[in-house]
Amino acid sequence: MIQGSAGPVDLTPKPVSASRIVLAQIMQVADANIAGNVHGGTIMKLVDNAAGLAAAKHAGGLAVTAVMDEMSFLQPVYLGDLVTLKASVNEAFTTSMEVGVRVESESLTTGRVTHTSSAYLVFVAVDEHGQPRKVPPLLAETDEERQRQREAALRRQARLERKEAIERARSRERSS
Ligand SMILES: CC(C)(COP(=O)(O)OP(=O)(O)OC[C@H]1O[C@@H](n2cnc3c(N)ncnc32)[C@H](O)[C@@H]1OP(=O)(O)O)[C@@H](O)C(=O)NCCC(=O)NCCS
Repeated sequence: MIQGSAGPVDLTPKPVSASRIVLAQIMQVADANIAGNVHGGTIMKLVDNAAGLAAAKHAGGLAVTAVMDEMSFLQPVYLGDLVTLKASVNEAFTTSMEVGVRVESESLTTGRVTHTSSAYLVFVAVDEHGQPRKVPPLLAETDEERQRQREAALRRQARLERKEAIERARSRERSS
């Protein structure tokens, strides 16, 4: 997904609160199967939308989804539920950002709120030619934000190690 518009970018550090996003949507017939369970893909699209908006706000322009590597489905979501997505940037690196999204589902009949999914996505800010461009550093102001920042760095390390291991293996296969 692509959000925002390219243009001159301000690299002044930004607090997490400046790009936090909350999206809410009622689940309708097209979102669910005939038993009334909402499709996982519907939730994933909403997660990508919410995360993309947070990334574009932090980057101050275009940001594309580069990786969606962790998404849990903890509880089912049903037709007629109000789904709320809370997205915030966990850490900003050079051109990429990790965004965390928490999904909650509320039954409008009982008022019960359930944590149904969590996801981590990586977005890359791009210029008008689609090339990666720098993003502002992230200011984590609370203990929780600092913890998310530390954990995002660990996940990034694991992602890059996995990517490099696959590239090395492919290069060995090509040359053998
Ligand atoms: C995302 C994209 C711009 C990255 O381009 P690239 O040439 O691979 O760029 P780089 O190798 O310079 O990486 C850019 C950033 O992504 C990070 N990155 C790349 N692959 C990564 C991975 N598997 N895990 C974590 N970070 C990754 C790099 O570390 C770098 O971040 P940094 O500058 O903060 O260190 C490019 O792959 C692209 O355009 N993909 C399509 C995006 C898209 O269309 N998304 C919507 C799909 S429907």
